[in-house]
Amino acid sequence: MQVLRTVAELRHLSRALHAAGANTIGLVPTMGALHAGHASLFRAARAGCTHVAISLFVNPTQFGPNEDFGRYPRAFEADCALAESEGADVLFVPTVVELYPNGTDSAFVEVPKLSERLDGASRPGHFRGVTTVVAKLLIAAEPDRAYFGQKDAAQVALLRRMTADLRLATEIVVCPIVRESDGLALSSRNAYLTPAQRAQALILSRTVRHIEFLVAEGERRASMLLAVARAVFATEPEARIDYIALVDWATLEPVEMAVPGTLFAVAAQVGSTRLIDNAILS
Ligand code: PAJ
Repeated sequence: MQVLRTVAELRHLSRALHAAGANTIGLVPTMGALHAGHASLFRAARAGCTHVAISLFVNPTQFGPNEDFGRYPRAFEADCALAESEGADVLFVPTVVELYPNGTDSAFVEVPKLSERLDGASRPGHFRGVTTVVAKLLIAAEPDRAYFGQKDAAQVALLRRMTADLRLATEIVVCPIVRESDGLALSSRNAYLTPAQRAQALILSRTVRHIEFLVAEGERRASMLLAVARAVFATEPEARIDYIALVDWATLEPVEMAVPGTLFAVAAQVGSTRLIDNAILS
């Protein structure tokens, strides 16, 4: 596995691989502190491409001024070992200056409207930071496919819209949510939870499962589903709801009736940790 630190090196390698013939490059963007959720994306990329590149970059522009950029978990040695064991060919580890040569308030990529919905409503600027850094990575690596988790379903909606609007050649591949055996969706931020908060955090997956069950039973009305979701969520008073929403997965606009492909999403604060979970309804 090669560790590359500059855009020029990454671009050079990608172009050489593509020039050499039938190579396909899969890129998996991450912020490190890798866990089994990330590993599932690496495996999907390994299965679908001849070459796998993973980026490790804690992107400052997607964190708000009072968020956890400074204390976001960093585990470079362990991340290298996991990436290598999953068969990655390239680990791209740029510095902030390498990706933002004129500072973090210079050129950016924004998807209007979508960037203000769901997480964007309570985290102003977050999605602009995500679309900006992912655009930089896609332009640098020119991958055939880029792999993202459904865990961040709103992020997926923005990235799909961005790549479509910018006419980028990369295909966006979305992989299922990886969970602990008790249902908690894996997240680098789970490391912040105390044992008591870890138990309280289960209310997110419990609410998601309950709504999936109601939809399977035939309930389609958003007003009913959201009322039940709020009632289920309220059984855990220590978790504070940020949003509970039923939206069209492409536009992130609220729907009145759930249909196949509708996104049910929740975000909540447990202690000082913000957690998210969701289901794509079938
Ligand atoms: P990060 O939180 O490190 O996540 C990297 C990728 O792993 C994302 O596509 C995310 O959806 C996926 N992922 C995280 N937890 C998962 C789980 N439990 N199951 C399946 N996939 C999971 O998301 C980001 O980083 C950043 O916003 C990034 C796209 C890298 C831009 O900075």
